[in-house]
Amino acid sequence: MNPSTSKPKALATRNLSAQAVTAAVIERMQSSRSARFKEVMASLVSHLHAFARDVHLSEDEWALAIDFLTRTGQNCSDSRQEFILLSDTLGLSTLVTQLNHPSQGQETEQTVLGPFHREHSPHFPSGADIAQGIEGKPLYISGTVSDAKGHRLAGARVDIWHADPSGAYDVQMQSLEGAMRLRGVFHTDPQGAFHCWSVKPTAYPVPTDGPVGTMLKASRRHAMRPAHVHFMIEAKGYDRLITHVFEQGDRYIDSDAVFGVRDALIIPFTAHRNKTGPDGRVLKGSHYRIHYDFHLRKIAVQKKPMSKDAKR
Ligand SMILES: [Fe+2]
Repeated sequence: MNPSTSKPKALATRNLSAQAVTAAVIERMQSSRSARFKEVMASLVSHLHAFARDVHLSEDEWALAIDFLTRTGQNCSDSRQEFILLSDTLGLSTLVTQLNHPSQGQETEQTVLGPFHREHSPHFPSGADIAQGIEGKPLYISGTVSDAKGHRLAGARVDIWHADPSGAYDVQMQSLEGAMRLRGVFHTDPQGAFHCWSVKPTAYPVPTDGPVGTMLKASRRHAMRPAHVHFMIEAKGYDRLITHVFEQGDRYIDSDAVFGVRDALIIPFTAHRNKTGPDGRVLKGSHYRIHYDFHLRKIAVQKKPMSKDAKR
């Protein structure tokens, strides 16, 4: 072939310097059919290479990082998500949440999903006790679900989960052998309200027996999260809300290991001495109550792009 008529050559993949390798890798992805894939991967390679150059990554450190990520994957299972925990403890989860759900107006603030959500939680009728035999101080959980203007939403799906009074989730209790406790799905009534019973959670450490724990220890960081209850709320036509409510006054409220606390999500866990709950349930002793009014964001209606004819 005549060299003067041949197609321009792709960047060579030989003899690449520490600087030239970045452009060569990005160039090799240009035939991808997805513009978004190309955009994301080009940025990932650029930043990853820039990071390695910035710290002058040694071969031992590179091997350590490969081993760390390998062990992070090996610590993932149906009941444990070490990669989400890594994302949480590095602040990436909060960054992604805030990029996609910035705080605005009356809508309830989103926060991290965390590593302990489980699919297929049991469905319960209103007022049920999700502790399911786990002992602790009774906690009455109630709330309402509305749109941003305060119009109540009936039939919204409310998924609730939290830790026990010792700070453990059901997935961490070997005696349960995979059974679900302290979690359940409810639906709002015609007035957009829901309520249930459980037991009061406490502050807890994120799991520290895996690679994330090693990273926290090396960083001289504590692993504690302030006491909280998780909510995932879904209603047709509205953005899914993933959030928690945090106990006011918790000692870890300003040093959450996963950077998830927001002012608007801090509420009192009020103690009540009377032995009758708000729904008439008779108790052996005192109990706690929490209440939160959730506001969902309506899904924006996408305007159809103007056709070429319309633009003329
Ligand atoms: Fe949690």
